Amino acid sequence: MSVVVDSTHYSRKILDKAEYFLLTVPGYGIRKELLYLGSVSKNGNPNKIQDSGLKFFNIEGCDFPLPEGCAAWALIKRIPEAHMEKNYDMFVGEIVKAWADSRVFSDNHWHLEKGPEELRSLHYVAGGHFYEIGKSVEVTL
Ligand SMILES: Cc1cc2nc3c(=O)[nH]c(=O)nc-3n(C[C@H](O)[C@H](O)[C@H](O)COP(=O)(O)O)c2cc1C
Repeated sequence: MSVVVDSTHYSRKILDKAEYFLLTVPGYGIRKELLYLGSVSKNGNPNKIQDSGLKFFNIEGCDFPLPEGCAAWALIKRIPEAHMEKNYDMFVGEIVKAWADSRVFSDNHWHLEKGPEELRSLHYVAGGHFYEIGKSVEVTL
């Protein structure tokens, strides 16, 4: 996995020292919380996480809380790449653990179209404009 995180962000201070980080697939149901978290910096509001309204839950086999309202969560072990991090703000890592909501993922397959709308994945464009994942398309050769 790779992520690009700007050097001015509070998250970046954490990431620079982190051995692991979490990536999630946020769902339509937490669109407001997501936009808040992506618009307000913890540099300016130390209470950002609480103020966002995002809730967390614990599951067996994971020793930290996961954010609610996501279709999937992946724990990433950072592979330090000093040159890329410093010059391109890019962090890479490998997935060491992953979980998915069984309403939208089972038997190694996504079926987002069969689950509740709140778990439809969101795809960000800019300025509060998102796309929610749409219909399923089967292609055969
Ligand atoms: C949906 C969404 C996705 C975003 N993705 C990224 C990203 O991939 N990299 C990045 O540097 N900033 C991204 N941003 C912007 C940061 O999340 C935003 O600047 C935030 O305030 C940084 O918070 P922090 O300073 O508390 O870390 C995104 C914002 C939104 C709303």
